[in-house]
Amino acid sequence: MAAAGHVPVMLDEVLALVDATPGQTIVDCTAGAGGHLAAFAERVGPTGRVIALDRDPRAHQPDAAGGVAARFADRVTLVQAPFSAVRVALDEVGVERADALFADLGVSSLQLDEPERGFSFRSDAPLDMRMDTTSGETAAELIRRLDERELADVIYLHGEEHKSRRIARTLKREQPTTTAGLAEAVIHAVGDPRVARRGGGIHPATRTFQALRIAVNRELDELDELLAALPSVLRPGGRAIVLSFHSLEDRRVKLRFRSEGYTALTKRPQVPSDAEMLRNPRARSAKLRAALVDVVDAGRRAP
Ligand SMILES: C[S@@+](CC[C@H](N)C(=O)[O-])C[C@H]1O[C@@H](n2cnc3c(N)ncnc32)[C@H](O)[C@@H]1O
Repeated sequence: MAAAGHVPVMLDEVLALVDATPGQTIVDCTAGAGGHLAAFAERVGPTGRVIALDRDPRAHQPDAAGGVAARFADRVTLVQAPFSAVRVALDEVGVERADALFADLGVSSLQLDEPERGFSFRSDAPLDMRMDTTSGETAAELIRRLDERELADVIYLHGEEHKSRRIARTLKREQPTTTAGLAEAVIHAVGDPRVARRGGGIHPATRTFQALRIAVNRELDELDELLAALPSVLRPGGRAIVLSFHSLEDRRVKLRFRSEGYTALTKRPQVPSDAEMLRNPRARSAKLRAALVDVVDAGRRAP
């Protein structure tokens, strides 16, 4: 069992694409609450290995992936590391090449549902948003450090928010330090279209929250580094499976698989069934892509 309340997204589809068999080595780059991780551990059996990464210390606790790692201590190794350190992390635990690598790029329920993490504007909390709470700059500090133009670029590029300039100007003026303060500042900047729509539509701060979260956690750079590391992590013909939650991520995965000439296992991205979307609203924007990393470039391989 993974943490209570967390439902792994597209679990059956992910398992079919990972296609783990007893004795294999799987890398789960996003251990989170341990939902996918537990299923991989069952499939590789006692002779296999799962190396699980998560940069968030919260994922390492006993009610999350930490508990799954303890339950399958004979085969699961849980490491606190970012995607960008995946090769180093594997060296440290003595793994040369894996059969499959999986990444579930969303924010975990553990992060969203704990108000003090500052990922959600449903409750008021310090404006933090760091996945790795032990290092780096919080969202409030990022807003303070960037100048208005840089902040507008972040909101436009990472949030696809067309009113980014107006929002950046207001954020620099109001310098919010809480999630409620950020949500109010965005409403001060652009109004609240939900009033006219009688409550319908997304909160006007949704895209700004997404943009700041991506910037605070360097999410797109981290994803690029993970995709670049695939040939040094996987055996030739190994499987890369990525579950993404917005178009900026999905586009990167699609283009990288294509430009490297990998054999696609999903011609189009797979999406959750209607039943899963009803059961688990967080699955709604999921897109699943997989490829065989079967083009070997000796120059880029680890020695
Ligand atoms: C959607 S959750 C994973 C949920 C998990 N598959 C499950 O079933 O419980 C994503 C997790 O990946 C972690 N994460 C995101 N980006 C990361 C990165 N660049 N390096 C390491 N961990 C990352 C987050 O901290 C979060 O715990």
